[in-house]
Amino acid sequence: MTDTLRIAVLLSGTGRTLENLLQRILAESLPIEVVAVASNKKRCRGLDIAQHAGLPNARFPLSEHADAEQRDQAMLAWCGRQRPALLVLAGYTAHLDLGSRPELPVVNIHPSLLPEFGGQGYYGHRVHQAVLQAGRETSGCTVHRVDSEFDRGPILAQRSVPVVADDTVESLAARVFEAECELYPAVLCAMATGDIPLHAEESGQ
Ligand code: GRF
Repeated sequence: MTDTLRIAVLLSGTGRTLENLLQRILAESLPIEVVAVASNKKRCRGLDIAQHAGLPNARFPLSEHADAEQRDQAMLAWCGRQRPALLVLAGYTAHLDLGSRPELPVVNIHPSLLPEFGGQGYYGHRVHQAVLQAGRETSGCTVHRVDSEFDRGPILAQRSVPVVADDTVESLAARVFEAECELYPAVLCAMATGDIPLHAEESGQ
């Protein structure tokens, strides 16, 4: 049982997911503390949000490292120094190399009902475009543990939303993101209270 779950957030884009978490922390509805924010981008809105919130933040653009493996090692080492108990991917678009013995559990949120519409190439609006093209009546979001394969780690929770007749990529994306804003905090809260084990081994996953 953890009172306040210390998390490090990895992001690449607009930081809406971080923003949502910070709002809920401020409203005292989420027993977590963001102790670090790291990005693979030199600049992005998510880093600005971290900066304005006074959170320790750092950038790890590939251009400043020999390769992605070394970049990821540097980024994970920096995050580790802030002593998080969990790494939370929040719109992090690069593949994360966790190394052979990942010390920290990692979770991600994906804007589809995995395993459908996940994996290499399925990110951002491409996911919703594919859902619409496939004629699905339902979409949603998935929180899962992160392992070495893109979007394939054990699923922790999902939330469905309807796909409606006149949906565009934008309208579907907005509906799915609304569901994300409920689901991610709920899962992180469950990890903070111990209802969902932090480590996959503890839950047999
Ligand atoms: C969402 O689609 C989420 O599912 C995916 O990244 C997007 C959010 O990114 N992981 P951001 O928080 O707006 O940067």
